[in-house]
Amino acid sequence: MCGIVGYVGEQQALEVVLGGLRRLEYRGYDSAGVAILHGGRLQVERKAGKLSNLEKEIGEKSLPGTLGIGHTRWATHGPPTDRNAHPQVDCAGKVAVVHNGTIENFEVLVRGLEDRGHTRTSDTDTEVVAHLVEERYDGDLAATVRSICQDLEGSFVLVIAHQDEPDLVVAARRNLPLVIGLGEGENFVGSDVTAFIAHTREARAVEQDQVVEVRRSGVTVTDLEGNVVEGDSYHVDWDTAAAEKGGHEFFMLKEIEEQPAAIRETLGGRLQEDGLLHLDELSMSDQDIRDIEQVVIVGCGSAYHSGLVGKYALERWARLPVQAEMASEFRYRDPVIGRSTLVIAVSQSGETADTLEAVRHARHLRAKVLAVTNTVGSTISRESDAALYTRGGPEVAVASTKSVMTQITAMYLVGLYLAQVRGTRDPDEVRAHLADLQAVPALVQEVLDRMGPVRQLARELVDEERVLFLGRHVGYPMALEGALKLKELAYIGAEGFPAGEIKHGPIALVEQGTPVIVIAPRHALQAKLVNNVQEVRARGARTIVIATDGDESVTPYADTIIRIPDTKSLLTPLLTIVPLQVLSAEIARARGLDVDQPRNLAKSVTVE
Ligand code: F6R
Repeated sequence: MCGIVGYVGEQQALEVVLGGLRRLEYRGYDSAGVAILHGGRLQVERKAGKLSNLEKEIGEKSLPGTLGIGHTRWATHGPPTDRNAHPQVDCAGKVAVVHNGTIENFEVLVRGLEDRGHTRTSDTDTEVVAHLVEERYDGDLAATVRSICQDLEGSFVLVIAHQDEPDLVVAARRNLPLVIGLGEGENFVGSDVTAFIAHTREARAVEQDQVVEVRRSGVTVTDLEGNVVEGDSYHVDWDTAAAEKGGHEFFMLKEIEEQPAAIRETLGGRLQEDGLLHLDELSMSDQDIRDIEQVVIVGCGSAYHSGLVGKYALERWARLPVQAEMASEFRYRDPVIGRSTLVIAVSQSGETADTLEAVRHARHLRAKVLAVTNTVGSTISRESDAALYTRGGPEVAVASTKSVMTQITAMYLVGLYLAQVRGTRDPDEVRAHLADLQAVPALVQEVLDRMGPVRQLARELVDEERVLFLGRHVGYPMALEGALKLKELAYIGAEGFPAGEIKHGPIALVEQGTPVIVIAPRHALQAKLVNNVQEVRARGARTIVIATDGDESVTPYADTIIRIPDTKSLLTPLLTIVPLQVLSAEIARARGLDVDQPRNLAKSVTVE
């Protein structure tokens, strides 16, 4: 989704803004632009395509100035062309606006503006804001923006510069994320902290319907009536190095390597000395936890797959009825939930529109909502009753890797904590599961150290058009996740199925040589999985099996075996997913594709 940066300070704004946009690239975009204010004049440069196109366009042009705004656009209204790139400007070119979101009543606003003599030069909804500022500006940009926000419907983050205000950037938000960066003699706004992390680690979240005045000397936040709103800043632990590639060709490869450390972070400080769990973050008393009658886990894409693993864990350990479902469907099906329902919203970004709406709907129905998210201060974390942070660090590649790992780990923690408090597992068993979980990072490292054969397999599969993934029990969500990774990264038609379902239809897809990847770690359902492998092989499939060290039951039927170390069957997703991530990334790389930014995808999907 769009990335936004605003800056006022002493440094050359062009460099600061482009640097911020570069770090926001991971959000996905298809055009980019900047506006720099200097000598009472706004200079706007914008270009379709990647930031490198914009930089080429700027070339040797001089864009001095210490106030600037910038944008990476993920097209919604109008195609990704130069004229639709942001910043958008008014008729006189005095106002520059960048925008993330959708102004739902823009057509009505456009008609009014055209009747009053304004001329549009783009297809965007954003441009109306520039013209409205032009009409209403009377020397107070912040007041003008407050009045305009009252007339806008939909969701927006707006960042606006006016040529008559040499020390002011004004920003506003509704339903989408906006963060303030607090510096010394310079201040920032951005879509998230990565926009300004190279300059300051002091941040403040902007709340719903607030307007921010950013000046060199400080920042003022008001509501739409102009009342000043005080708020706390927080310190960001991430550093710039963490947001860079660390020697890898792609962020995704770096992030895959970071997974053992990421799981350790998720576990860190949450285990007490007595070996049991301590999860105050849930903000629930023991009685609240005992009163839960059902759990509903919502998320999108990979986060949904993490939620599916959570379902197996919570059911097994906490003995509660659990549903896991795609957040995009949740609120449209009249879910039967209430005060005794715990809804767990899983979201790396904490900004996914469908998940956010599911949270709102669940709270409207009086359910208790727990966010499992990586992003402190995100909208989902703020709108939920409580947040359990996954602490995975920044994930820049569009495809989720370490966020899935840390989400699954967090789901295990929630499952064990509910079991501990509800007494559905005795303390020694909870301790034993936690000890197994603590051993997982080293096992993930072992899997990572064995990826040579997976890279070889990637070279063999590079020209395939279709790959099937099968799994059972917690292997099933990983079959879905493996297929999603292969689809989104390598653009190969990939589908994941519960292995027991293949005879009910999907087996018709198997022909001579079709690669079928079977997730078959040691498990109670092992014998059944071995049958499934035999079934597809008998129909010509090339079988690729992920199996536990020392397990020979599947060897006769596997054309290729990928070995993982042994662990408890419920924890195997943390190991089986690793070769699937590496395989997809390596196939994409062998196909010459952009592993970090697959086509048509955005890191954070903030529109429905
Ligand atoms: C796939 C992927 C997406 C996200 C989904 C939810 O690799 O990254 O499917 O998992 O868009 O995003 P968050 O977790 O930010 O809500």
